[in-house]
Amino acid sequence: MDATQVQQDVLGAPEPGRKNDPSVEVSLKVPPQSGSSNADRAKPSAASAANAPSKQPTAEVSADKADDGADAAKPGLVQRGKRWLRNSWRLSVACLLSALGGMGITWCMVVDEPAAQVSEDSNAEAPRYVAALSRRHEPIRPLVPFEDLNPDVVSLGRKLFHDPALSGNGRVSCASCHQPAAGGDDGLKRSLGLDGQPGSFNAPTVLNAALNCQQSWDGRSPTLEQHVDGPLTDPAQMGSDWERILKYLTTETSYLREFRTHMEGDPTQERVREAIATYERSLITVNSPFDQWLGGDESALGTEALSGYYTFHKLNCVACHQGELVGGSMFQPLGDMRKYFTAKRQLDERDWGRFHVTKRDSDRFVFRVPGLRNAELTAPYFHDGSAATLEDAVEAMIRYQVGQEPNDEEVRRIAIFLRTLTGDLPE
Ligand code: HEC
Ligand code: HEC
Repeated sequence: MDATQVQQDVLGAPEPGRKNDPSVEVSLKVPPQSGSSNADRAKPSAASAANAPSKQPTAEVSADKADDGADAAKPGLVQRGKRWLRNSWRLSVACLLSALGGMGITWCMVVDEPAAQVSEDSNAEAPRYVAALSRRHEPIRPLVPFEDLNPDVVSLGRKLFHDPALSGNGRVSCASCHQPAAGGDDGLKRSLGLDGQPGSFNAPTVLNAALNCQQSWDGRSPTLEQHVDGPLTDPAQMGSDWERILKYLTTETSYLREFRTHMEGDPTQERVREAIATYERSLITVNSPFDQWLGGDESALGTEALSGYYTFHKLNCVACHQGELVGGSMFQPLGDMRKYFTAKRQLDERDWGRFHVTKRDSDRFVFRVPGLRNAELTAPYFHDGSAATLEDAVEAMIRYQVGQEPNDEEVRRIAIFLRTLTGDLPE
């Protein structure tokens, strides 16, 4: 079954206003962003292949160097001419192959591998290097930490994030529902509100959330800064208000001192938002076994994890879950929604997803695809916490998102692969 067929099966016939190709969906559904670092870091899949993000993993940089190394010393014109010849040669081979095989894109990528240049490299680390190079086109990219975060602002943000005194009743902090060292969520089906009652949604992880194209299940906040007010003032979450928060931060001398020293002034709404968001940007969980494998370490993944990754590809999970975050870059409907929900429970307003933001009927049941980094630690799953274990979530995805009957062995191996996405956790 080819990719188009899978998408047809998953999403049904195209509806007016909604394209069924997730890669097209990216450009249609994710509005271009400006100024925010999220936008800079988390380009949707279609864009990220062409526009390399500002921070590239070392492996890729060296790969490009190898590709162009022989030409580097030559004058510009000759170099450009050579490159053109090389590329046009590749293009004709790609066209020929795509005409033969009907798999244009895949073949283009294979032809583009600069294998010849690599073997000329006499670098002592060659085996590791070649392995990394052959992974240039993997749809999943390694996590790279944000540079230039001011450590004092990070530490102030951390303090605010963990301080229950910011809440209306002095008992709930951001960390009550997003425990950074425990996976960045609260382990509950639905987060408990101020009054101890279950809220509407399962808490997504705050780890790597900086890489989401937009924040929250319905994507209502374009940036981390813009997301801060929601939980602080929502009566069901922290039930506080800015007047109360700023009064507290100004009267607490240690806070006042830190704001003045590290943020150039007294506490303001803007500085509080900036400090918390800066802390959140520091929560990038590098070094997962999968990223080590992407970097060329053959021993980082076992056979079962590799075969799980292969299945993840084969079932086209990568159409929606790719990039650094293995998701987080687009909005998609939860499969055959009605079937999913009526199989589990009655539909209600929280299942309308993105519709709450856009008020477009085509956005009903559409959610921001969650990233799958550290998914091992963030059970239960989905916006309503309706999948209790990672295996349950994978099984539901195969059934409702890919449109196939799940097979136990595939589910098990995909879950093993997903567990290799757990990186270094913050303290
Ligand atoms: C009572 C529990 C609770 C508290 C307290 C809380 N959150 Fe959340 N958080 C949630 C839930 C539930 C969601 C999902 C809400 C939605 O999508 O509508 C969420 C979503 C988020 C997201 C979006 C993540 C993503 O993947 O889309 C971020 C970022 C976040 N919270 C940060 C914070 C910060 C910062 C604070 C403190 C100012 C905070 N949260 C306080 C429960 C909580
Ligand atoms: C058409 C896009 C699409 C495809 C294809 C897809 N997913 Fe998802 N995935 C989503 C969306 C949307 C959600 C969130 C659904 C919700 O919360 O209601 C999700 C959620 C998940 C979650 C739960 C994450 C969390 O934190 O709650 C896992 C695990 C997952 N997908 C794995 C997979 C696997 C494995 C495959 C392939 C078998 C797959 N997905 C295919 C869109 C997709």
